[in-house]
Amino acid sequence: MPVLELKNIVKNYPDGENINEVLKDISFQVKKGEFAAIMGPSGAGKSTLLTIMGALLSPSSGTVLLNNQDISHFSKKQQTQLRLNEIGFIFQNSDLIPYLKISEQLQFIQKISNKKSTDAIAILKQLGLGHRLSSYPNALSGGEKQRVAIARAFINQPDLILADEPTASLDSKRGREVVQIIQETVHQQNKAAVMVTHDERILDLVDSIWQIEDGKLNKVNK
Ligand SMILES: Nc1ncnc2c1ncn2[C@@H]1O[C@H](COP(=O)(O)OP(=O)(O)O)[C@@H](O)[C@H]1O
Ligand SMILES: [Mg+2]
Repeated sequence: MPVLELKNIVKNYPDGENINEVLKDISFQVKKGEFAAIMGPSGAGKSTLLTIMGALLSPSSGTVLLNNQDISHFSKKQQTQLRLNEIGFIFQNSDLIPYLKISEQLQFIQKISNKKSTDAIAILKQLGLGHRLSSYPNALSGGEKQRVAIARAFINQPDLILADEPTASLDSKRGREVVQIIQETVHQQNKAAVMVTHDERILDLVDSIWQIEDGKLNKVNK
């Protein structure tokens, strides 16, 4: 059974007199322990697709199944609860809270969620951030910030990890390191993960590759 399954997803945005059909009949699935990549040109609808996967946006039509539960018609409140407990997000610019220390970035999530979480300090140390626990985000390099964002995404032991161009603000060496950490954590903890990326050089690190173009999503042979 897939952790996440999309069936016949359509997403339209109003565009003046017209409608912009960004996603046209998209189907997708990702299993436990699978790290999937979604590639495609700018404006193709990658972020739109990822926000639908993450219950941040509802599709115009189609079904989103998370652990076989249809979440496509969840209320805002149900969506918020789901995001907090079942989904970990990693964004392009890490989005850390400026006035919280690194350890507090994770403890904050532990506090507001009712989910059993892993040890925040232990996961930060595991990701090489043991010397940064009492630092504020502005003291960290881009790569370190993304590692904090990864730790934060995994802290509540979500089933699904979603990453939107997590390497876009990093040089290629740091970017590769970040994706390697995501890959190792996904495989070790047997999570399902979906990453949107532009970077073909990191595709050796993923288990499956999908290409979005003209509103359609196709699986690419690896
Ligand atoms: N909230 C929105 N309202 C209207 N149009 C949007 C909105 N978000 C994205 N779009 C449009 O949807 C298309 C896909 O955008 P996006 O999902 O951000 O693509 P990508 O992440 O692949 O660059 C673009 O044409 C964009 O202008
Ligand atoms: Mg995008």
